[in-house]
Amino acid sequence: MDQGTSSDLILALETSCDETAVAVIRGQADLLASEVASQVEIHGRYGGVVPEVASRQHLTQLKPLLLLALEKAGVKMDELSAFAATAGPGLATSLMLGLSTAKGLAIGLDRPFLAVNHLEGHLLSPFFQKPGGVQPAIGLIVSGGHTILVDVAGVGEYHVLGQTRDDAAGEAFDKVAKLMGLPYPGGPEIDRLAATGDPRRFNLPRSMLHSDDFQFSFSGLKTAVRYLLPEVPPEAMADLAASFQEAVVDVLVAKTIRAARRRGRQTVCLSGGVSCNRRLRARFQEACDKSGLQLLLADPKLCTDNAAMIAYVAALRFAAGAISLLTTDINPNLSLR
Ligand code: KG4
Ligand code: ZN
Repeated sequence: MDQGTSSDLILALETSCDETAVAVIRGQADLLASEVASQVEIHGRYGGVVPEVASRQHLTQLKPLLLLALEKAGVKMDELSAFAATAGPGLATSLMLGLSTAKGLAIGLDRPFLAVNHLEGHLLSPFFQKPGGVQPAIGLIVSGGHTILVDVAGVGEYHVLGQTRDDAAGEAFDKVAKLMGLPYPGGPEIDRLAATGDPRRFNLPRSMLHSDDFQFSFSGLKTAVRYLLPEVPPEAMADLAASFQEAVVDVLVAKTIRAARRRGRQTVCLSGGVSCNRRLRARFQEACDKSGLQLLLADPKLCTDNAAMIAYVAALRFAAGAISLLTTDINPNLSLR
């Protein structure tokens, strides 16, 4: 098996949803380029991601973005040691483009290929460029498609403690924002609006807050906002945004801290698009300080979909001598094991 070295150059592609992304990493911590071509504006016209539109965009954006990333990294294609891409979970036709491109490059240049789990990319992103690298922790992935609480024992050693039964946290942000007439994606809009609102103005449900498990549910909260909306005056929209956000954050913080205690972990790490949320970051910092836990947060650029997190996982795996077969297929429902 190929044994990676600290000077290995890996090119990684991420095309699981609506961001086309390319990154180049040297070793495990030297990020030479991380380019993201967002499709937000295009999908915004439809109020959400349209899979067919997403894959067509990847098709046209991938090559120029790849060349731009190489130029920014100051690296020539034949200097690369390996090629990586997200294999899942995500939209089938979008995943296919990134994975096939990485495989094609690996075949053409006779280099190893690595298929990466998008969720592992998110999960490990808070450890990137941190002293000591990946360490035992409770990881919370909160994105547009997932809300998962994971006990991390080390790289590749994951125990899923719980996940959402219905909407993901980011999905709840996006759906509530849509109900409130805010643009897509709604998460950052609610974050902004909530900053001037009163989180105690409206009493909204905290589903499963006290259940003795690590499951989540956000669809009831969304429905509660829908029923409340007709009675909310226009000047109270910031209060509604803040009250909704507080309900989501309360549940995420309580269950994550409980998981850390129950599993005897000293570190909590947050990842995924929703972990950009300023209130979430502040409340987690407060709760971790109070409980004597270390909090690891990724740079906001690494929280939303990007290829740097895919490159990081690929680099960790490559250094450990693990590469993927060229027969590895996409898996839209890939989970963390
Ligand atoms: O990780 P990500 O880019 O894509 C997925 O893998 O799903 O996450 C996107 C999600 C969207 O639902 C978006 O509204 C949410 O992250 N998001 C936020 C914030 N920034 C992005 N949610 C709340 N507050 C934010 N600041
Ligand atoms: Zn993601």
